[in-house]
Amino acid sequence: MLNVALPKGRLGEKVYAMFEKAGFPCPSIKENNRKLIFENQEAGVRYFWVKPSDVAIYVERGAADLGVAGKDILLEYQPDVYELLDLDIGKCRMAVAAQKSFRDNPQKTLRVATKFTNIAKNYYASMGRDIDMIHLNGSIEIAPILGLSDVIVDIVETGTTLKENDLEVIETIVPISARLIANKAGFKFKQAPIETIVASLAAQTEEAK
Ligand code: PRP
Repeated sequence: MLNVALPKGRLGEKVYAMFEKAGFPCPSIKENNRKLIFENQEAGVRYFWVKPSDVAIYVERGAADLGVAGKDILLEYQPDVYELLDLDIGKCRMAVAAQKSFRDNPQKTLRVATKFTNIAKNYYASMGRDIDMIHLNGSIEIAPILGLSDVIVDIVETGTTLKENDLEVIETIVPISARLIANKAGFKFKQAPIETIVASLAAQTEEAK
């Protein structure tokens, strides 16, 4: 049985459709209920819906053989997994944003609010910039407005959240997209079905380009 952790939500539904096309269907997953685990014994696959930011934990610890996680999560938590494929979906970017009136003074410690403290730390370390890190769990955009921070490091997709809060991107740190990841032991022991999936997902990704 191949165990697959899907990120709950629209992205996960897209990913499931790709797995289905790859020959690993599980029709019961489309029933509209609150179940989280779905199995198709015949196809030898079990899917489960998890919080997108938790997918890498399930895969790293072997509760899932495969999963789909955002590059943001992989960069932030550096899980010990194989990154097999860039699926070219769930695209966004990690960026530094600030109020339009913000003027940086490089002599001063920069106050940075973010959920992604490792990404922010590495980014500013690479520039030799001293920062005061403020870890938040959400609604990051509020921090500069209330004077809690000078800038934020966050995900920007459409840019609407920034715009609605009178903030703007000042630097892009890295482009983000969804990645197919595998547990290292699972990859070895379930090589045949994983190779089938990788080949099909790679072809589907190319086709969609
Ligand atoms: C992310 C991010 C921004 C928003 C950006 O939050 O933190 O708030 O999306 O998207 P936009 O550029 O299209 O407006 P998400 O919805 O993932 O939830 P979160 O608050 O849990 O991070």
